[in-house]
Amino acid sequence: MPSPTPSNRPIRLLLHGAGGRMGRSVLSLLPGVPALHAVATVSRNANDDTSGPPSFTSEQLELVPEFDVAIDFSLAPAFTPVLALCVARGAALVSGTTGLSSTDRDAIEQASRRIPLLWASNFSLGVAVLQMLASRAAVVLSDWDCEIVETHHGRKRDAPSGTALTLGEAVAEARQQPFAWDDRLQESEARSAGSIGIASLRGGDVVGDHVVTLFGPGERLELGHRADDRRIFAMGAMKAAQWLAFRAPGAYRMQEMVAAES
Ligand SMILES: NC(=O)c1ccc[n+]([C@@H]2O[C@H](COP(=O)([O-])OP(=O)(O)OC[C@H]3O[C@@H](n4cnc5c(N)ncnc54)[C@H](OP(=O)(O)O)[C@@H]3O)[C@@H](O)[C@H]2O)c1
Repeated sequence: MPSPTPSNRPIRLLLHGAGGRMGRSVLSLLPGVPALHAVATVSRNANDDTSGPPSFTSEQLELVPEFDVAIDFSLAPAFTPVLALCVARGAALVSGTTGLSSTDRDAIEQASRRIPLLWASNFSLGVAVLQMLASRAAVVLSDWDCEIVETHHGRKRDAPSGTALTLGEAVAEARQQPFAWDDRLQESEARSAGSIGIASLRGGDVVGDHVVTLFGPGERLELGHRADDRRIFAMGAMKAAQWLAFRAPGAYRMQEMVAAES
C-alpha cells in the first residue's frame, strides 16, 4: 500500500546514478509507473540525451529541482552527497547502492531520524523471502555450518555482494551472534565452528545468484535465488519509492514493505 500523497499529483522522483545499468533500467520502466514522475536524473558525467527528464552531473547535484523521493543506484563514493541532499530537502531516499562503509551505515542511522529511508542490498521479492527462509533455517538448524556463495557479472566492483552480506547478517542475527564473515577464497585454514563463510564468483553477464548452504552431519540444505533480469530490482525500488515517500522519518526494511503488501 503506497503512503498517502499530499495531493493527487504524481510523486516527484530524483533518479541518482541514472546512466548506469540499474539507472537505465529504472528509466526504461518509468513510463509504466504513472504514480512516479522523474523531475531530474543525476550521473557522474553529463548526459547528452535531451529526450528524458532534465539531467544533472554530480557536481550540479544541489541544483536539482524539488523532489519527494530519490532512487539511488550509484557507487559508494556518491552515496554521501545524495544522502545529504535528501536530508537538506526533507525528501525520502530509496538506495540500492552497495559497498557502503560503516561510516555510511552510521550516516544512514543519523539521517533516518530526519527522513524516511530504505536502503536494501537487493530489491527483489524473491531475495526478501530467501532472507526470511535463511533466518528461520539458521535457528532450526542452529549448529549447522553456514556458507554463502554469490555470483555476479564481471563488471561488478564490490565483493562480496551487499546481498551476500545481508544474508550472512540475517543468519547471525537469527542465531543471536555478532556478524563476522570469512572470505572462503582467501582462507587456507580449516573453518572455525560457528563462522559464516562467503565466496564470490565474477564472470559473464550474471545478474545475481545467491546460495545459502547449511551443512549438517550427512546432509545439507541449499536455499538459493537467481536473478535473470535486473528489471526486478528496478521495479522493487520503484515500489519502495511509492511506499516510502511521505512516511514518517525512519530506517525502513524491504521485509516491512513486503509484509505490508502481502
Ligand atoms: N539493491 C539492489 O537491488 C541492486 C541491484 C543491482 C545493483 N545494485 C547496486 O547498484 C549500484 C549501481 O549498479 P549498476 O550496475 O547500475 O552500476 P553502474 O552501471 O556502474 O552505474 C553506476 C552509476 O552511478 C553513477 N555515479 C558514479 N559516481 C557518481 C557520482 N559521484 N555521482 C553521481 N552518480 C555517480 C554513474 O555515473 P556515469 O553513468 O556518469 O558513470 C552510473 O550512472 C551498485 O552499487 C550495485 O552494486 C543494487
